[in-house]
Amino acid sequence: MTERLALYPGSFDPVTLGHIDVLQRAVRLFDRVVVLVAAGAKAGFWPAEQRARLVSASLAADRQLAACPIEVFEGLLVHEVERRRACAVIRGIRSAGDYEQEWGLHGVNVTLLPQFETVWLPARASLAAISSSLVREVARHGGPLAGLVPAPVAAALAAAPPR
Ligand code: COA
Repeated sequence: MTERLALYPGSFDPVTLGHIDVLQRAVRLFDRVVVLVAAGAKAGFWPAEQRARLVSASLAADRQLAACPIEVFEGLLVHEVERRRACAVIRGIRSAGDYEQEWGLHGVNVTLLPQFETVWLPARASLAAISSSLVREVARHGGPLAGLVPAPVAAALAAAPPR
């Protein structure tokens, strides 16, 4: 049987506990999930390689998650889907606002690649308020980061807070 490969793309600037929860649920649905860290998708705080390193450090403690490859990508997501023969792209949805944005993203992707599939996973309610930009704001003012991001990300933000 062919492997059911899913891609989990994002800026992960930085990866949050919300992202980790989505990934934990995605690995139960697919044979393999590759985390794709987008280079240049947004004007990021950290360079993509550092974001990817922090994703990797955040997954290390969990045997199932640590098996997920983490790669930086540049360019169109549909090209990654085609090249890797992925059957789906995973995206987390926290709110109606996310849904609207994701609907647009899916619409463009499916126009570019008709077999493109998105699997939307609803954010766990307790994590639905977390966003990477709010995490950076809390870090900028020296606020507590436990409950928002994995420990390696909290340590990195504490060591070098965003200005
Ligand atoms: N829990 C907590 N936070 C979550 C979350 C969850 N379950 N899901 C998303 N978020 C937050 C993130 O923290 C982030 O917050 P921010 O806006 O404050 O930074 C935001 O939601 C989205 O970030 P992320 O999930 O990392 O993804 P993204 O929207 O930055 O990534 C790509 C978008 C990379 C998938 C998209 O830009 C892309 O495909 N780029 C490649 C080029 C392309 O093909 N474009 C589409 C066709 S034109």
